[in-house]
Amino acid sequence: MNARLVIIGYGAIAAELIQRLSGKYGTTCTLAVLLRPDSNSSAHLPPGVTRLSSVSDVLQFQPDLVVEAAGHQAVRDYAQTCLASGLSFVVASVGVMADEIFYDQLCQAAKLGRAKLIFPSGAIGALDYIRAVRDLPDTQVIYESRKPPSAWADELQRVGQTQPLSHEFVLFEGHSREAALRYPQNLNVAASLAFAGIGLDATQVRIVVDPDATGNTHRVHAKGAFGDMHIQIVNKPSPQNPKTSWVVGLSLFATVERYFAPVVFG
Ligand SMILES: NC(=O)c1ccc[n+]([C@@H]2O[C@H](COP(=O)([O-])OP(=O)(O)OC[C@H]3O[C@@H](n4cnc5c(N)ncnc54)[C@H](O)[C@@H]3O)[C@@H](O)[C@H]2O)c1
Repeated sequence: MNARLVIIGYGAIAAELIQRLSGKYGTTCTLAVLLRPDSNSSAHLPPGVTRLSSVSDVLQFQPDLVVEAAGHQAVRDYAQTCLASGLSFVVASVGVMADEIFYDQLCQAAKLGRAKLIFPSGAIGALDYIRAVRDLPDTQVIYESRKPPSAWADELQRVGQTQPLSHEFVLFEGHSREAALRYPQNLNVAASLAFAGIGLDATQVRIVVDPDATGNTHRVHAKGAFGDMHIQIVNKPSPQNPKTSWVVGLSLFATVERYFAPVVFG
């Protein structure tokens, strides 16, 4: 691959990404991880991975690509400087872009630095299809998230649902901007779908808490002059972080490979 990469954070997604990059590309892929100064994750970093502590360390490392796998605050802390300095930036925490002012700032920074702000597909798929039909005037996109009550324990309590659920409960129904702002850590997928497709204000979101759910299920229904598209994805949790789907680390790996590949699909 012959590339230099900085990964922000070293949690479930970053560990999966690093393991795959090292396994497939070995020393041709030079890796560094940006950790907060108080983080003790460096004790777990694989040998050969450089630890960085600040955005100036990142610039000094001169990476070909920066990948965020740390959370919304990390995007706020580092994306603008990286992009304006000419470093393309992959964002796993897509939900943070529901803040329109911040998103515009990043677009400006990317233009200024001639860099790219890149959204991976993450826990979902078929974004290429949604992107292809988004400019037709009557395209509609509806996204449904279906997870077990344990995934929404705090939110259920907040709406007064303290008894165990015996049937499914619709926690939210509305457009994806409101969903992403209301549940920022949980709705990266809704934001990805909206950005690839018809936008945050037009993409409809339904969050269902389902006591019979066994995994994290994403359903997408798109319809319009092009036809009708339904997908359902049932993701297994990451072994390291049950709140994250295992496939997200794989998706970031595919995004990195795509960025450097001479041949591109999708
Ligand atoms: N696009 C998607 O489909 C999708 C799906 C799941 C998660 N995500 C996003 O990916 C993020 C990471 O997920 P994860 O499961 O690896 O989380 P995790 O909690 O396992 O790991 C996050 C790591 O980032 C570090 N970190 C946090 N803030 C940081 C900062 N400002 N600077 C440097 N390091 C920082 C933490 O110490 C931790 O090691 C989530 O917060 C979520 O926003 C996206």
